[in-house]
Amino acid sequence: MGSTTADWFEDRIAAAVAPLLPGFTVEAVAEIDSTNTELMRRARAGRVEPVLLVAEHQTAGRGRLGRPWQSAPRQEASGSLLFSLGLPLAPADWSGLSLAVGVSVAESLDPSGAHKVGLKWPNDVWVNDSKLVGILIETALPSSGRPDASRYLVIGIGVNIGARDADGMRTPPAWLRQWRPDASAPEVLGELAPPLVQAVLDFEARGFAPFAERFAARDVLRGREVALSDGTTGLCEGVAWGGELQVRTDAGLQLISSDEVSVRPRGMAF
Ligand code: BTN
Repeated sequence: MGSTTADWFEDRIAAAVAPLLPGFTVEAVAEIDSTNTELMRRARAGRVEPVLLVAEHQTAGRGRLGRPWQSAPRQEASGSLLFSLGLPLAPADWSGLSLAVGVSVAESLDPSGAHKVGLKWPNDVWVNDSKLVGILIETALPSSGRPDASRYLVIGIGVNIGARDADGMRTPPAWLRQWRPDASAPEVLGELAPPLVQAVLDFEARGFAPFAERFAARDVLRGREVALSDGTTGLCEGVAWGGELQVRTDAGLQLISSDEVSVRPRGMAF
């Protein structure tokens, strides 16, 4: 995995998060296939401790729906922030988790909303219809011997820090230095990680309800005509209390809960 070129302030982040999540550690590596793949591998091998794994480069980054996730070129080590948070979690209901994660990330990157950092259901972070952050959430089966209903949750996050070109991307990229020219990946990790852990623990305790209005405040699809990858089209009426996307179609209101369906503002290519 090699040594990192940047200082990731692992101890500082671990100290900020440990009161929320005892035993939490932060690991930084120069290169890995995918931070999500690595934490899922560990979970399957029975390693289910709370950890944040950040990589300066991924050779096989993964996105949603089986797509690859391309980050900034290797020589631009701080051009992308690539990390995964892994922890055991046992919420009563998992619905809406990915939306709650998106809310936390968008609020950390743009607390006042001045930069119009919004959320595209279920959990892309967009600015002006361009993608700033991708989020990939996976869970591993319960580890043997645990008495509760927990699963090992892996939340993978990729943030564009430096300028990106749009080659091969379905959605044009946005990047943080468009309005924060001095932003660095380690600094942004320090801003995102503690609130993200807090949001996940809040979700475990109280579900999606505390996040619903905050999602609505940043919802970039609400009020727009949308098209789904299954061919459905209609007017987006925002997100329901369970996190489902509400689309008014000719056949009536449809609630979309499967994140295997992709949704776009109408007219934007899939
Ligand atoms: C998407 O928008 O399709 C989700 C992209 C998620 C990318 C991040 S980068 C860190 C983590 N490791 C991965 O392989 N994927 C996630």
